[in-house]
Amino acid sequence: MATSPKPVKKVPIHLQSSQNRVYIKNGHIVNHDKSFKADIYIEDGIIKFVGPATDINVPGGVRIVDAANKLVIPGGIDPHTHMQLKFGGCVAVDDFYHGTKAAVAGGTTTIIDFVLPEKGESLVEAYDKWRAWADPKVCCDYAFHVGITWWSKSVSEEMKIMCEELGVNSFKMFMAYKGLYQLNDSELLEAFERIRSLNAVAQVHAENGDIIAKNVQKLLSAGVTGPEGHELSRQEEVEAEAVNRACILAHQVDCPLYVVHVMSKSAGIELARARRRYKNRGIYGETLAAALGSDGTNYYHQCFQHAAAHVLSPPLRPDPTTPAFMMNLLANDDLQTTGSDNCTFNKEHKELGKSDFTKIPNGVNGVEDRMSIVWEKGVHAGLLDPCRFVAVTSTNAAKIFNLFPQKGRIAVGSDADIVIWNPNATRTISKETHHHACDFNIFEGMVCHGVPEMVLVRGRICVEDGTVRVAEGYGRFVNTPTRPPYLYDVLEGKVQANEEHNGEEHDEHLNGGLKKLDL
Ligand code: URP
Ligand code: ZN
Ligand code: ZN
Ligand code: ZN
Repeated sequence: MATSPKPVKKVPIHLQSSQNRVYIKNGHIVNHDKSFKADIYIEDGIIKFVGPATDINVPGGVRIVDAANKLVIPGGIDPHTHMQLKFGGCVAVDDFYHGTKAAVAGGTTTIIDFVLPEKGESLVEAYDKWRAWADPKVCCDYAFHVGITWWSKSVSEEMKIMCEELGVNSFKMFMAYKGLYQLNDSELLEAFERIRSLNAVAQVHAENGDIIAKNVQKLLSAGVTGPEGHELSRQEEVEAEAVNRACILAHQVDCPLYVVHVMSKSAGIELARARRRYKNRGIYGETLAAALGSDGTNYYHQCFQHAAAHVLSPPLRPDPTTPAFMMNLLANDDLQTTGSDNCTFNKEHKELGKSDFTKIPNGVNGVEDRMSIVWEKGVHAGLLDPCRFVAVTSTNAAKIFNLFPQKGRIAVGSDADIVIWNPNATRTISKETHHHACDFNIFEGMVCHGVPEMVLVRGRICVEDGTVRVAEGYGRFVNTPTRPPYLYDVLEGKVQANEEHNGEEHDEHLNGGLKKLDL
């Protein structure tokens, strides 16, 4: 007779935390529009109170946290990750567990990952596959964008299902990866039109895939096979042309457009020009931690492993003035968000491209270090004030993808995704101590001010005293409803898009003092 195993009593997941009531006192709260001193009371993952201690009777059995001399900020939102993505015959080593654990360790409490259907694959089937990978593993909340990797009537029909039934409001189209994901202009126009009719958000990977294909052939036949060939085949103007074209195509059909991973000065300038031309209506841009904290001189490093570890698309730029320039665009609201494009591969994967740069799997780390890089290169360097830091690491992504104010804000009723940030402490980034599954960190050795000393994910304390204690599967899928008011109210003329950042208060000496690009 078979003996049946003893039934295990399951503890509901929200009780895995020893405390579901937390009181944070003496902190300095920073939202995107203002900062102020207040205490916070959290119950069952939701912020129940924000105000002076005199206005609340804290119940017993509450975990009290003293945040004196610290900033209390909304958890980071990384709008661009690729956990366990299949790319170039490999699978990204940061899966939804390691990737979200690394995110939380660095102060990011929500990620938006990409469902990328194969050519000919149903969007719904791909979505189900990604949900099945993510749901049991995620340590923080997450949402999805869906890639429009091929175009047909059935794809167009499934986009409606995505929006109306599956909680997806954004679609990414590729202008590069010829023969794989690339759409041509007429397909792009149709996709933009469809997205507009669904009140959704268009995203583009902006690089001219036809030019890249030609350059790759030229370089390989001239004997250029090393990682430097990656950037040489897709230089700045190849990205800038596609940014400009995407903005015009989207504008023709009045579709809101979010350009992902803007990596170069030239592409940033094209985006800023389009925003001016269209009076800040409907065009938004993201840059990456990698673009702010590293550069393309690494492609010329004598060690193949080092150079190949920096390969992503669009590439980092050899012009060493790029990172500060991109930070300036963020400060001036020419760019709105920072992502990581976290898509990590190990030495043995990157080595597939040892004798041909086109075979190097694309992708870098960033989900863990994004917040620290933006603080160090932005706030510590004097280019961003703390409010703008919150805007570009959290709030703007929440607004653009319609997660606001559930996410991206410290306010009563919002999810208790909170980071206690010590602006004076420093940490040194290293692959020896990071929480990624990968064997390389493109920010190795960088000393960053700004340490996430405590991280709460929907009220659960996940980082404390330098220890990361996440719970696999604790994260939830968050629906992103269509018609984000932040985009559509402006597009439909219901509110004016401000030249300034919509009534935010800023430190005059920082963002306010920076000159807008003279275009
Ligand atoms: O190099 C990158 N970015 N890899 C992931 C795919 C993409 O284009 O976002
Ligand atoms: Zn991309
Ligand atoms: Zn990407
Ligand atoms: Zn602002």
